[in-house]
Amino acid sequence: MANSDTDKRITLAWSGASGAPYGLRLLECLLAADYEVYLLISSAARVVLATEHGLKLPSGPDAVKAALVEHLNVPTDKLVVCGKEDWFSPVASGSAAPKKMVVCPCSAGSLAAIAHGMSDNLAERAADVVLKERGQLLLVVRETPFSTLHLENMLKLSQMGVTIMPAAPGFYHQPKTIEDLVDFMVARILDHLGIEQVLVPRWGYDQRS
Ligand SMILES: Cc1cc2nc3c(=O)[nH]c(=O)nc-3n(C[C@H](O)[C@H](O)[C@H](O)COP(=O)(O)O)c2cc1C
Repeated sequence: MANSDTDKRITLAWSGASGAPYGLRLLECLLAADYEVYLLISSAARVVLATEHGLKLPSGPDAVKAALVEHLNVPTDKLVVCGKEDWFSPVASGSAAPKKMVVCPCSAGSLAAIAHGMSDNLAERAADVVLKERGQLLLVVRETPFSTLHLENMLKLSQMGVTIMPAAPGFYHQPKTIEDLVDFMVARILDHLGIEQVLVPRWGYDQRS
């Protein structure tokens, strides 16, 4: 990929798995960390967002950005909302795409499409680009139980260097609220991306007794 290690750009895809609050919180944290975020939202992700968070997104990238700007508590000048078939977006080409991409939440459908290089929409294409350019791809997969097919797709991608992070928050930080559970997952994602975070105390440091 053409960009440098200090490049603070990332692609974030929301797919239609349960876990919209993870995606929203991650977006907030990435923007707060001064990352330029290319945001891709599937049709099913919109349904999940409305169902789980009561946030009904309008159609069209500009209107979506305006709706998110109202909703988020962080500066949004570095937020770029992309259309599902915006093939001219930087994320669609290895010559311009960010090196890092997270699919959060990641549905079993998106997992399968990425594992098989479908590239049928911009999110699948962006993931395919990160794979072929040997960038960092993280999938926050959410389904239960997993079928053999899901597990095979995860294994296949893991063997290609993809980080599979099931949306499976721990309880050892004694969460009191849903936000605590969400922050647990988001903190682990940020850790893997190498982005400083203070959402959750680290194991062995600042543990509550
Ligand atoms: C409210 C809601 C929750 C869903 N939860 C999940 C889920 O947790 N995991 C999953 O794999 N699919 C889930 N689905 C089904 C996916 O949205 C569906 O398979 C969709 O085609 C995925 O497409 P996408 O990956 O392009 O977003 C859910 C759908 C809805 C409406």
